[in-house]
Amino acid sequence: MEKRFYITTPIYYVNDVPHIGHAYTTLACDVLARYKRARGFEVFFLTGTDEHGQKVEKAAYTKGETPLELADRVVKRFQALWDKLDISHTDFIRTSQERHKKGVRQLFRKIESAGDIYLGAYEDWYCTPCETFWTETQLLDGCCPDCGRSTEKLKEESYFFRMSKYQQALLDHIEANPDFIQPRTRRNEILNFVREGLRDLSISRTSFSWGIPVPGNERHVIYVWFDALTNYITALGYPDDPDGDVRKFWPADVHVIGKDILRFHTVYWPTFLLAAGIPLPKKVFAHGWWTVEGQKMSKSLANVVEPNMLVDKYGVDAIRYFLMREVPFGLDGDFSHTSLVHRINSDLANDLGNLVSRSTAMLNKYFGGALPAPGPSTARDDAFVARFPTAVRNLDTQMNDLAFNKALQTIWDLVGAANKYIDETAPWSLAKKDEDREKLATVMYNLIEAIRLIGLMSAPFLPNTGSRILDILGLDGADTSLEGRDAWGGLQPGTKVEKAEPLFPRIETE
Ligand code: MSP
Repeated sequence: MEKRFYITTPIYYVNDVPHIGHAYTTLACDVLARYKRARGFEVFFLTGTDEHGQKVEKAAYTKGETPLELADRVVKRFQALWDKLDISHTDFIRTSQERHKKGVRQLFRKIESAGDIYLGAYEDWYCTPCETFWTETQLLDGCCPDCGRSTEKLKEESYFFRMSKYQQALLDHIEANPDFIQPRTRRNEILNFVREGLRDLSISRTSFSWGIPVPGNERHVIYVWFDALTNYITALGYPDDPDGDVRKFWPADVHVIGKDILRFHTVYWPTFLLAAGIPLPKKVFAHGWWTVEGQKMSKSLANVVEPNMLVDKYGVDAIRYFLMREVPFGLDGDFSHTSLVHRINSDLANDLGNLVSRSTAMLNKYFGGALPAPGPSTARDDAFVARFPTAVRNLDTQMNDLAFNKALQTIWDLVGAANKYIDETAPWSLAKKDEDREKLATVMYNLIEAIRLIGLMSAPFLPNTGSRILDILGLDGADTSLEGRDAWGGLQPGTKVEKAEPLFPRIETE
């Protein structure tokens, strides 16, 4: 069977500029995409922008622009940030693109011809910022239960999707596929929600015009979530290219999203697909939210963390490491400058940086930089080496579970073990006696080989550092593949190894 992997980020609204929360979702996808590529998968990694809807229309008109002008401007900021963060996406879809609009109209028609879309009237409480209608009982003190802002009563003629019809099929699917919604707590949340009953869903609007017209009734535009969710198949060429990427990559292996948009991805999207007879994505993984120094990130608090500034100050790999290491993927976390600096100094500058500079310096001092063949092994050497195959296996499981912080823990346990191995074997003492030359050769071989594997394993998280480590070891830094290269003993004796400059400068704090 061919190894393929399709991973998606949510598509980002263009009425906001990118911040650390957006960077987080995209980064997690990038890490997994890179890992899967290293494992020999053909990866389709999709991201993009969600450009239609009333919010964007309003934001544009208050700025004296057309919605498309606003989108064009903000899209550039997203794209520039993804470059800066070394995001390796395959495609970037914009919902204003013709390829997308065509696919959305087609999906609408398909569901309509199946008899699951009808024209009706709608009267409910609408939250404009969330683009969501709420029933009277769902409101909290008259306000949106999601964002807490005020709602307004709207009556509109609207097309409805017979979502109620798919309640049982959806429940059956969630129950039969325990991994469909992750983490577990989110799955339970959705199971409870669906069991309470699904109402038909309003999927068109007449109150604004910035969107995709309903085929055959141009007074209506298609509901922004129907439009947005469909990006996951239009980017593959749906419906025109049945033998191309749709066949190759659909169903998606994982949609990575934040917990706030779980219902759209695990109730609306799957029921649309069921109605259209299209297979469901294999997994939807919802991560948690970041607060900043203990507070919700918001424009009014002026505490929005701007990722460009962080990258300029600390470097891209340090930011990637921190975001993936600090918080278990799936839980909420807090961003603070103190913990960021602490992580950089302790894990990167000290633990990894020192391991690489100490080991390569010793190899240059004791063996002129040429890797010796290992001599006989002691029990301690064997125990050190034995950690690696286990770690490689654990890493694979953890990556497939999107347990990024555990995966980094696995790698940093090796870093810690290698530093301890240096302290315990004390190569500087072995170097003093001729009769210990073989022992010293074993220790140095093991350290440098350990660094090779650590570099490869960490490359999906730290692409620049991973490549730099391989370059230092005389390998091709551009090739970070793990397939066939993750077994102990890959480095050939005789390899010339550079004395490494520090990988991460320590951040000085007052
Ligand atoms: N346009 C929709 C998604 C449509 S997908 C078919 C949307 N866009 S968004 O720009 O508002 O958010 C995109 C992602 O950023 C979401 O996954 C959201 O969870 C994430 N984050 C936004 N703020 C966040 C934090 N403070 N912390 C972590 N992630 C957050 O929703």
